[in-house]
Amino acid sequence: MIKYTVFPDYFSLSKAAAERIIRQIKHNPLTLLGLATGSTPIGLYARLIDQHRRGKLSLSRVTTFNLDEYVGIPKDHPQSYHVFMQKHLFDHVDIPPARRHFPDTDKSGTQYDLQIMRSGGLDVQILGIGANGHIGFNEPGAAFDSKTRVVELAESTIRDNARFFDHSDEVPRQAITMGIATILQARHIILMANGANKAAAVAAAFQERPSVNVPASCLQTHHSVHVLLDTAAAGDLS
Ligand code: PGA
Repeated sequence: MIKYTVFPDYFSLSKAAAERIIRQIKHNPLTLLGLATGSTPIGLYARLIDQHRRGKLSLSRVTTFNLDEYVGIPKDHPQSYHVFMQKHLFDHVDIPPARRHFPDTDKSGTQYDLQIMRSGGLDVQILGIGANGHIGFNEPGAAFDSKTRVVELAESTIRDNARFFDHSDEVPRQAITMGIATILQARHIILMANGANKAAAVAAAFQERPSVNVPASCLQTHHSVHVLLDTAAAGDLS
């Protein structure tokens, strides 16, 4: 089942997403969270940090599994998702380092999926959406039964990412990502999108029949998805 909520702006969208996560953690302090990177969840993470600083939220028993990481840049590269998570969440809250997980080319993707399963499965997976409809780094064409694996990035994704790197030859061309099947195993999924550049992807994902050409459309087959949009990202929905 998909529930849609449209917010007037990014701030209120982020606040609502954070409140959903905070409710989940208060209900079950041992929550397993699937985390996303990118510009979209920064406001949500900022709100979690704010609540933690005010003494209203502890994440000390939460376990996290990140969606993806680049292949070909070191973990301490300023654009790595390890560094992104430090900067935007981990350095500011009390999730123990041993409870934070990333897919890693040192291990097989299958091991990552097994680790998630053996830990009890993801309670909530947070997702953004790419302008091309990708979720994690499952690019158009990714099979709906895909598991965690190394993938080639779409040319459009490489172009979108180029702004974060000094030289175009530095921009990673591969990543390791949870698969679509891995994501769909989460009990609940929150997809956030803001900005007009996401409007076409959102409409293609939720108003057309599910197709591997629009990876986020797989979410139509899930039993508990909440799509949080700002008015711009909802602009192409009828
Ligand atoms: P963004 O990326 O949050 O930076 O827009 C989302 C995505 O590509 O999944």
